[in-house]
Amino acid sequence: MHSKPSSLQIEKSLHERNMPMSVSDKTVVITGANAGIGFQAAQKLAGSGARILMACRSVEKAKQARSDILSQMSDAEIEILPLDVSEPSSVRDFAARFGEQYGKLDVLINNAGIVTPHLARNSLGYELHLATNYLGAFALTGLLLPFFNKTAATRVVNVGSLAHRFGKFDFEDPNWNNTRYNNWKAYARSKIATASFTMELNRRLQKLGSTTIALSAHPGFAATDMGRKTGATTPKTAFGRWYQSKMEAWVVAVPERAAEPIIHAASADDVCGGDYYGPTGLFEIKGRTGKARINPLAKNIEFGRQVWAVSESLTGVSYLSDL
Ligand SMILES: NC(=O)c1ccc[n+]([C@@H]2O[C@H](COP(=O)([O-])OP(=O)(O)OC[C@H]3O[C@@H](n4cnc5c(N)ncnc54)[C@H](OP(=O)(O)O)[C@@H]3O)[C@@H](O)[C@H]2O)c1
Repeated sequence: MHSKPSSLQIEKSLHERNMPMSVSDKTVVITGANAGIGFQAAQKLAGSGARILMACRSVEKAKQARSDILSQMSDAEIEILPLDVSEPSSVRDFAARFGEQYGKLDVLINNAGIVTPHLARNSLGYELHLATNYLGAFALTGLLLPFFNKTAATRVVNVGSLAHRFGKFDFEDPNWNNTRYNNWKAYARSKIATASFTMELNRRLQKLGSTTIALSAHPGFAATDMGRKTGATTPKTAFGRWYQSKMEAWVVAVPERAAEPIIHAASADDVCGGDYYGPTGLFEIKGRTGKARINPLAKNIEFGRQVWAVSESLTGVSYLSDL
């Protein structure tokens, strides 16, 4: 585990937050790497020489994704380890197996995510957006933190969303037990929690003088399967279907481009802990990667501490506490 450094070490680390990093020969864990943005990130980072560990719920889809990448890059190093990030037992099993089989980590990309119109819960009764998009990432990060390479620059990259901007966290009822459910509000809640977690994680890591930084990136809007497979973005009318097809053709990004901010956060030299990247075009929907607008709530330290505390209590995974 991390031990407390001297104040001199902390100061040195703060000045070195912008640490150059090549992903070549680095171990990169990507959750949800079998499709969409996670797949694109896996492919691109494998092409840059990273050793990719696909952390996937559907192993069959992951095998197909892996062979798609290998068909283009036969020397790519890609392995698969099963993970259902919404299920606490699966997150713990994954971390234990990672420790046994790999033991060393350079980059963790918490990408797996859902958007679903119906209220759904994991085996502990936690609302599924929160459990998948946020709590699983919080727990996984804590359980993998001891394996981060301590002698090199390493990163936790959390995948955010434009939706975090209207996200609110209900500390009394985080899992929608007593509140009328709204799926887009639930999605936004999971993403404001992710944004706040990233800032708070980075703050705590820097306080410890860690060589690991935490930062985040969002893809804008991308034509992935995310909303389609659950029907969350399925239009109800013929006009809606027409409008959506035009939107997809003209407005939203293809997954390959949408993954660029995430790849940048994971592998570019000129990033710092706490940075937030996204497309810089109109409304940050698509475009060239640059700094993105973050909800000021995500930077609020008191809010960050509260989100952290409730996350420790809900997941049973405590780390970097008392900082
Ligand atoms: N697409 C957009 O416009 C957009 C916009 C903003 C933010 N994002 C964010 O980008 C990230 C990736 O989304 P995407 O658009 O690439 O969606 P996608 O194509 O649906 O991919 C989502 C990935 O997450 C995985 N996943 C879902 N639940 C999981 C679980 N319980 N355990 C493990 N893996 C799980 C999926 O695996 P399965 O195949 O097993 O379901 C899939 O690999 C998400 O965090 C999302 O919130 C996307």
